[in-house]
Amino acid sequence: MEVIIQPTPEDCAAIGGRMVRALLDRKANAVLGLATGSTPVPLYQELVRLRREEGLDFSGVTSFNLDEYVGLPGDHPCSYRFFMQQQLFNNINIRPERTHVPNGLAVDIKAECNAYESAIQAVGGIDLQVLGLGSDGHIAFNEPGSSLGSRTRIKTLTRKTREDNARFFDSFDEVPQHCITMGVGTIMECRKLLLFAFGEAKAEIIAKAVEGPITSMVPASALQLHQNVKILVDEAAGSRLQQLDYYKEVFTKKPDWQRAGANDDA
Ligand code: F6R
Repeated sequence: MEVIIQPTPEDCAAIGGRMVRALLDRKANAVLGLATGSTPVPLYQELVRLRREEGLDFSGVTSFNLDEYVGLPGDHPCSYRFFMQQQLFNNINIRPERTHVPNGLAVDIKAECNAYESAIQAVGGIDLQVLGLGSDGHIAFNEPGSSLGSRTRIKTLTRKTREDNARFFDSFDEVPQHCITMGVGTIMECRKLLLFAFGEAKAEIIAKAVEGPITSMVPASALQLHQNVKILVDEAAGSRLQQLDYYKEVFTKKPDWQRAGANDDA
């Protein structure tokens, strides 16, 4: 596990962008795992910039999003499919048929979840998964108490998550109660994980996830068992890490080529 602390979210996004570029340079048909919410927005802006200014080619890329609200159609402005179209897919040259977001309108949700898992397997698994962190410790929508071996399935959102996400909706009551989400086990099978967290509001939970005990009550703590995970935080989100100075020292002592994001080690 490598913790990278940067002054701003944009600095974290620049490093994330270099990691994506390094992956696509060596594997044009890479499989990206993507997240929604506020946290990945700077990264997506950076990927759009890399496409427009440096010609980064996404034409061979396949993507899988972590989650989707049950009951929202893809053209609903609060759906995660809509978010991805606006923030990323419409602005890079990814092929639409290679972008995957769970279908929140699926009649047979179990079949949809199983098909999602199969689709990930069919393309050889996810090379690089982008993650945000819920203020309750969730990754994707694996709420506290989720099995650390869980697979894609329907989950009930906690009141806390619905309150956090109410800012995207007209009112709290409009926030869906359920979602389809990749499981912790699904995420743990991705070859590389990039978890971003920004702002003081994430400081306590990032410290628990990175330095606390591994527990289903903080699903993100499972990442401690992954062999290739980068935690990218701004100063505010990193402020409660016990080993803050050590993480900074490790980063400054890295060779330039590694700091540039080209290494795949954890
Ligand atoms: C979204 C997702 C969630 C968010 C988390 C943080 O696809 O999987 O785990 O990453 O709720 O959300 P923000 O970034 O809005 O604070």
